[in-house]
Amino acid sequence: MSSNLNLNKIAGAILLAGLIGMVGGKVTEFLYDGGPEHPGEKIEEKRGYKIEGASEAAAGGDTAPAEVPDISALYPTADAKAGGDFFGKKCSVCHNIGKTEGNKVGPRLWGVIGRKVASIPDFNYSAGMKSHADRTWTFDEMNHFQWNPHTWVPGTIMGYAGTPKDQDRANLIVYLNSQSDSPLPLPKPSAAKPAAKDAKAATPAKK
Ligand code: HEC
Repeated sequence: MSSNLNLNKIAGAILLAGLIGMVGGKVTEFLYDGGPEHPGEKIEEKRGYKIEGASEAAAGGDTAPAEVPDISALYPTADAKAGGDFFGKKCSVCHNIGKTEGNKVGPRLWGVIGRKVASIPDFNYSAGMKSHADRTWTFDEMNHFQWNPHTWVPGTIMGYAGTPKDQDRANLIVYLNSQSDSPLPLPKPSAAKPAAKDAKAATPAKK
């Protein structure tokens, strides 16, 4: 009798352990596998937030963020001088931007905002860049290109991973625009809902 009782206890313990294991397994499965509604989708991946340097990952080719942030709200207050410093650090090794300066590894960039893509006659562009020659370097095109040259112009030979920080791109693009015989007017901040912290800057100034 007493040995029977012991057996029962043991059987019970095994059952309980099994149950705990099963429930535990289900719970972890739910946590990490997206749950019943999204089977197989790993929450770990979906939880991804954008990190600076994201474009480095994108340059690797797999996780290119589909949406390039709209920075039109940043242009009115962007700092062209900071953009010039940024250009000096990141771009001038390959590009001249002075009015009378020539090409380096990359094409000369005087007046590039508003210029047709791949339109410097004595520069040997990649096939990828040439295939965009029907486009114009608007603020928007430049924002996309600077975010990640390699996803915006597949096949480009520009050896630069991109500028992930919105403020850096805004400063840079406003600077590029200033290096021109005829700088373009800044684009209107778009109607798209800006990030909360930019809400004030995005409110169009009454004139
Ligand atoms: C390692 C060299 C290198 C660096 C660094 C570099 N570029 Fe370039 N850039 C190139 C080359 C090469 C091309 C031509 C690309 C092609 O034909 O695919 C190019 C093309 C461009 C174009 C297209 C111009 C046109 O005539 O259509 C723009 C705009 C540009 N670069 C801007 C920049 C800016 C801004 C930076 C800095 C943030 C930068 N580049 C950094 C090498 C570089």
